[in-house]
Amino acid sequence: MTDTPFDVAEIDRLLTTTRTVRKRLDFDRDVCDQIIFDCIDIAEQAPSGGNDASRRWIVIRDEATKQKCGEIYRRNGDFMINVADRLEGSGHGKEHVFSSSAYLVENFAKAPALVIAAIWGEHDNSGRPGLFDSVIQSAWSFNLALRARGLGSAWTTLLNASVDELAELLGIPPGVTTIVTFPVAYTKGTDFKPVARRPAEQITYFDRWGYTRARASEDGGAHFEDGPGVVAEVDIEAPPKAVWPIVSDIRFPAGANTELQGAEWKSDERGVGAVFVGHNKLGDNEWSVDNHITAFEEGRVFEWSTVDPTNPGARWRFEIMDQGVGSRLRFSVEIGTANNLTYPMAMASDDPVAVLNGRRKGIKANMQKTLDAMKAAVEGARA
Ligand SMILES: Cc1cc2nc3c(=O)[nH]c(=O)nc-3n(C[C@H](O)[C@H](O)[C@H](O)COP(=O)(O)O)c2cc1C
Repeated sequence: MTDTPFDVAEIDRLLTTTRTVRKRLDFDRDVCDQIIFDCIDIAEQAPSGGNDASRRWIVIRDEATKQKCGEIYRRNGDFMINVADRLEGSGHGKEHVFSSSAYLVENFAKAPALVIAAIWGEHDNSGRPGLFDSVIQSAWSFNLALRARGLGSAWTTLLNASVDELAELLGIPPGVTTIVTFPVAYTKGTDFKPVARRPAEQITYFDRWGYTRARASEDGGAHFEDGPGVVAEVDIEAPPKAVWPIVSDIRFPAGANTELQGAEWKSDERGVGAVFVGHNKLGDNEWSVDNHITAFEEGRVFEWSTVDPTNPGARWRFEIMDQGVGSRLRFSVEIGTANNLTYPMAMASDDPVAVLNGRRKGIKANMQKTLDAMKAAVEGARA
């Protein structure tokens, strides 16, 4: 057990279970001003650009003012009620969040206090610190401090769509920007849980955009044993079901990719366990390899492992993420020690990391070309 200045497990529980609370806000229990002061004092310990104390907090307690805020929130959030109605019972991935958000749209003014975090300053896109980036960390501390005391809230931004009206209502002077409004209340129960998020290994890039490690390296270096990889992504203006046919077409990448020359199915079935053969060419090297489908979820995941699925030369994966208005297509590869090209090339060199990274660069460029071609094909077919 390492010597740490905090009870890490308890702090991590706070950090991982501070959820957006809407339906479980207890509107019948009052919140005293002292708790709000305490939470703001804690929040004010957060850093700010230039250490210039420019944050301001507006706590709305007056019933008539709360009602007016509620009306603005309702007007700006009306679309959420329509979406929630449409998604009800559909099992859609966003059904829950829209149902919860719509509930808040209808009940916003019932919170015992509405707390706005604001800052002196206007966004001028100058890249200088001091505006959003001097409020967000503080506002989140406020939310954590609430949770630690049995209260909760939701990070809401819908009032910001009516800044002039809000400024008029609350007397906010020109030159001040409102960032977030928290409907603050005690929560009904405190048993909130962590949620599934994409693991760090998949969204953390080492030394260069898109360079991943499937496992943590002991010394921070790039080793084959750590599952080095590459990620490329593209946003496509089409729903996942329109992207899937191209993603699952094993021949498509050959047209866009300078290394892959062609591919054909060896199996009649499609799904986990099916095999296709891929033909590749890099410089004077030409080789064919069996690719085993290792994940197959229609409209979502198409993954294959080269050589041997239990000890792959490489594991390639397409993932289609529903972005609501379109799809984000992610193409990733994890290179294994059974890789029949990269691994021996690197091992034969005095600088294996340079060879590995050189390969990653080439693979990534091909992956991006493949994605761009997929985007063009899907969007072109819909134009
Ligand atoms: C920048 C930002 C704006 C948000 N705006 C709203 C909003 O206006 N109304 C709302 O009900 N939730 C809003 N949310 C809350 C998100 O919907 C919520 O964080 C997300 O569903 C994840 O839920 P979780 O925080 O419990 O993990 C916002 C969150 C962020 C970070």
